[in-house]
Amino acid sequence: MPKSADISATRSPLPKPVFNDDIHHIKIFQGDCLDILEKIPADTIDLIFADPPYFLSNDGITCHAGRMVSVNKGQWDRSPGPDKMHSFNRAWLAACQRVLQPDGAIWVSGTSHVIHSVGFAMQQLGFKLLNDITWVKPNPPPNLSCRYFTHATETLIWAAKNKKSKHTFHYRLMKETNAGKQMKSVWPFYPPSPGEKRFGKHPTQKPVALLERILLAASNSHDLVLDPFLGSGTAAIAAIRASRFVIGIEAFPEWNSLALSRIVAELVFVQISVDLCGVSVDRSSVAETHARNRTLVAKLVQQERKFYFVGANQREVIYSVEAESLDDAWQKFRATTHSGKEILFVIKTETEIYLAQ
Ligand SMILES: C[S@@+](CC[C@H](N)C(=O)[O-])C[C@H]1O[C@@H](n2cnc3c(N)ncnc32)[C@H](O)[C@@H]1O
Repeated sequence: MPKSADISATRSPLPKPVFNDDIHHIKIFQGDCLDILEKIPADTIDLIFADPPYFLSNDGITCHAGRMVSVNKGQWDRSPGPDKMHSFNRAWLAACQRVLQPDGAIWVSGTSHVIHSVGFAMQQLGFKLLNDITWVKPNPPPNLSCRYFTHATETLIWAAKNKKSKHTFHYRLMKETNAGKQMKSVWPFYPPSPGEKRFGKHPTQKPVALLERILLAASNSHDLVLDPFLGSGTAAIAAIRASRFVIGIEAFPEWNSLALSRIVAELVFVQISVDLCGVSVDRSSVAETHARNRTLVAKLVQQERKFYFVGANQREVIYSVEAESLDDAWQKFRATTHSGKEILFVIKTETEIYLAQ
C-alpha cells in the first residue's frame, strides 16, 4: 500500500486537503499544523522538514536589492516573547516527533532568533541530534547599521526521532556530489533564483536545491516527507523532483495558493519531461539499432535543444529559445519584456537530425 494512503487511518478524521494527488502522493492541508499533526497517526512519516516562523519581525530594517526595507515578514512572524516562542516550538516539535516512524528524522531551519530554542526543545524532548548544518549565503545583503557582522548564514538542525533511531544517511551519494570528498556541514547555496519566484514571492522562501540535498541525503525514494510550515511549497517541489511522497501544511491561504501554483507547474513539467524522455529514449534506441545495422551510414547534421514557454492564461507558446539548460532559458526569457507570472509551464525539446548516407 502506498505510504501516503496510510495517513487516512486516522484517530479523528483529517480535514479535506486543499490539494490531493494520489498519483504523485501529494496532500496539502490548510490550517494550524498543531491541529493537523494531531490527526495524523503516530509513526507514519519518514522525514520532516520544518521551517517555522523565525519570530524576527520586530519592525527593524534590512537591505533588499540595494534598498532599505522593513524586516517584517507578516503577523505570523511577530515574536510573542521568549517563553511563548519556546512553548510553541516544543509543542510542534513534540507533535512532529509523535508522527515520525521509529527511524525517522527531522530537519529544522532557522536563524539565531529561533534556532537555539528549537535545539533546546529537541534536547528536552529526547530527539537524537545528528548534525547542525550551516547554510552560507554567498551574496548576503549588507548590514545597514554597521554595528554587526553581515548576517550570511542560517542553521539547519538534523535530528532523529530518539536515541534508538537508526537514521537514513546516503553517505556515498553525498561524497559523490562533493567531488569525491566527504561532505562537510557547511553548505553554500544561493537564495532562490527569480525563476523560483515566478509565481509570487514568499518572504522566507528556501532554495529548491537546498531542500533537494536534504531529501537526497536523508530519505529514500517513495519515502513520505512532511513539511508542517509549507510556505511557498519548496519542500513539495523538491519532493516531486526526488520522487518522494509529500504532506504539506500551511496556515495561510495566500501561501497555499502560491505553493499550489508551483506544485501544479512542477507536475506538468515533470509529466512532459517524462513523456519526452520516454519518446527520446525510444527514438535513440531506434537510432542506435539503425546505426548498428547500417554501420556509419548516418551523419548528425543538426542538434538543437529548445525551450518553449507556455502561457498561463491561454495555453499557447509565448516565447521559445535555444538554450543549454532550463536556467539558461529562464535567463534569456527574463531579458524579454515578458514576466514570469505569465508562464504556466516550460517544454524542453531535443532534436537531432541525421543525414542518411
Ligand atoms: C518560514 S516560512 C516557510 C517558508 C518555506 N520553507 C518556503 O520555502 O517557502 C513559515 C511558514 O509557516 C506558516 N505558519 C506559521 N504558523 C503556522 C502554523 N501554526 N501552522 C501552519 N503554518 C504556519 C507561515 O504562514 C509561513 O508561510
